[in-house]
Amino acid sequence: MSKNIAVDGPSGAGKSTLSRMIARKFGLIYVDTGAMYRTVGLYVLRHGLDSHDKEGVVSLLPDIHVAMRYDDSGVQRMLLNGEDVSEEIRLPGVSIYASDVSAMPEVRSFLLHMQRKLAEENSVIMDGRDIGTVVLPDAGLKIFLSATPEDRARRRYEELLLKGVETTPEDVLRDINYRDVNDSTRAAAPLRPAEGAVILDTTGNTLEESFETISRLVKAYLDGGDGE
Ligand code: DC
Repeated sequence: MSKNIAVDGPSGAGKSTLSRMIARKFGLIYVDTGAMYRTVGLYVLRHGLDSHDKEGVVSLLPDIHVAMRYDDSGVQRMLLNGEDVSEEIRLPGVSIYASDVSAMPEVRSFLLHMQRKLAEENSVIMDGRDIGTVVLPDAGLKIFLSATPEDRARRRYEELLLKGVETTPEDVLRDINYRDVNDSTRAAAPLRPAEGAVILDTTGNTLEESFETISRLVKAYLDGGDGE
């Protein structure tokens, strides 16, 4: 039986960087579910729809084929109808679209099957907003990562700078605040810690410190039966 780890938390809390590091260290498959919502968001953006146009978005779903693959270094790539969109989905405009379409229950159930199947077939560390609460409620270890909006915006800004994306710290903080409200107040699978989740506030921590803390939790889980 696969051993699964759920990592949830708001944008910029360090979920993907830390989950990727943990996957590499412990030989797990890392699944970034935000990338799936971003892929749907990108399709909607490209089709010129308003991101709140629920009827329009739902009518596009049958035309969207989302697939994932891993490259030679184990990095998750996203395919939208066969096209590799892994870089494009990181653009700030796509973040807002991803957040808006992710509030639609039809979009959530569209992706749920793929997420659960990955966890059935592999031992995964999966990150997102509703992994511990909805997608994998039986995950043996659940982690909820948080940090202040300012800390998260700073990290995200530095990441985008490194990727050569033109933006400002103010714009990144605005995006984070918008998505925090959106992602945690929606009716469908809102962001909140799952019952039994270990809550880690990474404000002011270095990446290494957070990595050490999570590594200890993961090691204890993987070494110690089903972790329940
Ligand atoms: O993790 P991320 O920032 O790449 O995710 C993009 C958006 O997708 C985020 O604002 C909320 C949504 N999302 C979600 O609703 N549920 C998930 N499991 C993952 C992401």
